Amino acid sequence: MGYKRILLGYDGSEPSRKALQKAIELTKEFEAQLCIVGVVRPFEFAAIDFIPPEEIEEYEKEELSKEEKYLKEAAEEAEKHGIKPSLKVMEGEPAEELMTYADENGCDLIVVGYRGAGGFKRMLLGSTAGNLVKYANQSVLVVK
Ligand SMILES: Nc1ncnc2c1ncn2[C@@H]1O[C@H](COP(=O)(O)OP(=O)(O)O)[C@@H](O)[C@H]1O
Ligand SMILES: [Mg+2]
Repeated sequence: MGYKRILLGYDGSEPSRKALQKAIELTKEFEAQLCIVGVVRPFEFAAIDFIPPEEIEEYEKEELSKEEKYLKEAAEEAEKHGIKPSLKVMEGEPAEELMTYADENGCDLIVVGYRGAGGFKRMLLGSTAGNLVKYANQSVLVVK
């Protein structure tokens, strides 16, 4: 029983930091592997035609390096607990990318926070978390 390879979706938000703590606990408990993935959304804007490509590129570069920084911080936290996680930044729609990662890397549990960075307040459960619960092939732990 237990889980062998745990995937944490990490966006640097407070709820995802809480999910990190839980993922660390479970990784130790089950002597599992921990994978931490951050997904950067591509630039989306209706008036994309009016924005110079350099600015879009600049925006995406900034988002990527921000996510890399988050992952580094998460890894440092895990290392304090004797865990060496694999890290990956992906680009696309967060739930979709996390599911692809989990399928391709044999993860058997996905851990996320119940809210993320910049969600709609009226949504009780974040859209990434909700879509994972609905569509992932793996068990999903939504940490509260
Ligand atoms: N871009 C992302 N990359 C990795 N994990 C994410 C990302 N966005 C959200 N998550 C995970 O999903 C959890 C819930 O976030 P989300 O469903 O996006 O809520 P919200 O709608 O409030 O942003 C986060 O705490 C985090 O664990
Ligand atoms: Mg979100």
